[in-house]
Amino acid sequence: MAATKKVFIKTFGCQMNVYDSERIGEALGRAGYLATGRMEEADMVVLNTCHIREKAAEKVYSELGRIRQLKAARGAQGKDTLITVAGCVAQAEGNEIVRRAPVVDLVVGPQSYDRLGDLIARTRQERRPLVETQFPQESKFQRLPERSRQRRPSAFLTVQEGCDKFCTFCVVPYTRGAEYSRPVAEIEAEARHLLEAGARELTLLGQNVNAYCGLGPAGARFSLADLIRRLARLEKLERLRYTTSHPGDMSDELIGAHANVAKLMPHLHLPFQSGSDRILAAMNRKHGIADYLALVERLRAARPDIALSSDIIVGFPGETEADFAATLALTERVGFAQAYAFKYSPRPGTPASRLGEVVPEAEKMRRLARLQALLGRQQTSFNLTSVGHIMPVLFEREGQRGGQVVGRSPYLQAVYAPGAVRHVGALLDVEIVAAGPNSLSGLILEPRRGGHDAETRAVC
Ligand code: 5AD
Ligand code: SF4
Repeated sequence: MAATKKVFIKTFGCQMNVYDSERIGEALGRAGYLATGRMEEADMVVLNTCHIREKAAEKVYSELGRIRQLKAARGAQGKDTLITVAGCVAQAEGNEIVRRAPVVDLVVGPQSYDRLGDLIARTRQERRPLVETQFPQESKFQRLPERSRQRRPSAFLTVQEGCDKFCTFCVVPYTRGAEYSRPVAEIEAEARHLLEAGARELTLLGQNVNAYCGLGPAGARFSLADLIRRLARLEKLERLRYTTSHPGDMSDELIGAHANVAKLMPHLHLPFQSGSDRILAAMNRKHGIADYLALVERLRAARPDIALSSDIIVGFPGETEADFAATLALTERVGFAQAYAFKYSPRPGTPASRLGEVVPEAEKMRRLARLQALLGRQQTSFNLTSVGHIMPVLFEREGQRGGQVVGRSPYLQAVYAPGAVRHVGALLDVEIVAAGPNSLSGLILEPRRGGHDAETRAVC
């Protein structure tokens, strides 16, 4: 359909939402909408929302307040604006969104993006808000349109969705549903498409990506390690990453892939959430500190330079000063390249939200500040170890300042270097000359030739 209308999509939250927003944009393209970066000129506004913490969910309502004014202003000019709330807030709150924000026309959960065109037509026809939060039997992926051919050096690719772990603090098992792994052939086709369009790096996404267990060719089940080896054969692919992983699903095979699949980058996001066994049990994490430390040891034995990142929660109900000290101690002991620390936020419907022994807000803030200070020091010292080294950097975009390009090191550090648009999309050797807490600066050396050796063993 020729594009006649404009859509503005705002993304909140995780990388999967970034990926989903791309697919929402493609689905809306099929319904006649062209993307715009300016909300004022949009005939349709989509908020792709996050429900993981209270702050993230509340942002949506303040955004909807602003949008109400915009819709009224456009209405005064005789222009209609369709407001859609997608993502995890849509899934979790459904009708409540329309009740709290009557400006909303359409509420659509993550499993129904393939039906956006129909839903828009219906809400227009019926002249009433629609709420679609079913978990359909069939996967949306087969019905979504083919990926667009945007040129992007590093692309996300969802391979797995949902979570069966039920950590007691987390809404994901409710908002994204049960674990689902996309079939290998479907993933491979999408990977080829992204590579043809110019991607050099793929990040395989899943809420619990290392639990991936997808249908392979000839009916065999593929683990994430199998999938990685399979995708590493794709000639145009230079780099592979995956996120987010649960410590309980880090198989020997997957650890081994870090040792013998050259295209798999030496970086792993491995949340541990708390350094106290007592709190880990209350979180239903299904692993203890000793398991985590043993895993780190095995990973470092397989790939000594692997950079680890993590998610950590402070102030979970019942967390004592001693439990928090254990979190600091585990953080010290592992030494992270980077990590996210969060204040515990009670989420409706989760078991932890019903627990007593709530940690006072001021105490949560104090613990968060102490942990973040430690993580900041670790990140800076990790970055400093890169100075003086030459490392391959995949340049993703031009910098804000002219004459500068920005890319990623193998360890996912942001690297800034003097350069030009011709460097964007290239994997180049860079000499790192300086490091700060959040990025590295370097100088581009001569262009690299060819890609890495592919690991081509096909295993089921
Ligand atoms: N409160 C605070 N942080 C949370 N996370 C998930 N749920 C909550 C919550 N209720 C964090 C976890 C998870 C990351 C994506 O968000 O650390 O790994
Ligand atoms: Fe949430 Fe991750 Fe736990 Fe699943 S494994 S419930 S996504 S924190």
